[in-house]
Amino acid sequence: MKKRKIVVANWKMNIFSEKDAKKLISDVKKKTLKVKNTDVVFCPPFVYLSSLSKTPAKNYFLGSQNISDKEKGSFTGEVSALHIKQYKTSYSIIGHSERRKMGEADEVINQKVLLALSNNIKPILCIGEDKRDDHGGHLELIKTQIENGLKGVSKSNILDVLIAYEPVFAIGAKDPLNPVDIHEMSLWIKKCLKGLFGSFSENVRILYGGAVNFSNSKEIINTANVDGFLVGRDSLDANNFSEIIKSLV
Ligand code: PGA
Repeated sequence: MKKRKIVVANWKMNIFSEKDAKKLISDVKKKTLKVKNTDVVFCPPFVYLSSLSKTPAKNYFLGSQNISDKEKGSFTGEVSALHIKQYKTSYSIIGHSERRKMGEADEVINQKVLLALSNNIKPILCIGEDKRDDHGGHLELIKTQIENGLKGVSKSNILDVLIAYEPVFAIGAKDPLNPVDIHEMSLWIKKCLKGLFGSFSENVRILYGGAVNFSNSKEIINTANVDGFLVGRDSLDANNFSEIIKSLV
């Protein structure tokens, strides 16, 4: 099975009008119309999902930046998978390091992954180490984040999960992790998945995130053995983001 490439735009807490949100998406669509075999997912702030629900078409999709770990009830301020799926939102970023920093633990992240799957939303499970040492501690940490995040996920669901590997020190930084190190980590992630779900899991899409921009994306995709990117800053600029999408083909 040939895996489709994918680029996910994580707008974070940026873009402050419906008009700007719509314009950014339509500009990216215009510039990337000819791109085939690559899925593009826009993850705006929750409040724009409703007005952007006409976005999904062909290889363009909507995603959320988070969902609640509960489906419904007395949870003031939370947004449920049941809410976002009303607006044709088919992906959700789960466990981003910026949320982990706010105290989100693996158990909560796992609940979110399971709730997304049970609502036909593809979870983009974010994992990544804060720092590296010479003793391979980061590899163990990644393994634990995968095992804990995917607890209870069945073999029949695993291909709906995407893993976004984002070393925390590269997020918002000037440079991404070296592509050779990304490659090594991607092999390690595949090994961990194989241990849990069997060789079938080779088809799980693995993304890299952290300082991806239009001038480094080609090199990463050519050398790092990943299926796409999770992009923060450069997803806010239609020209730059479109160049990243085009660099994957
Ligand atoms: P960045 O963010 O591309 O601005 O480094 C990536 C992310 O946080 O997902």
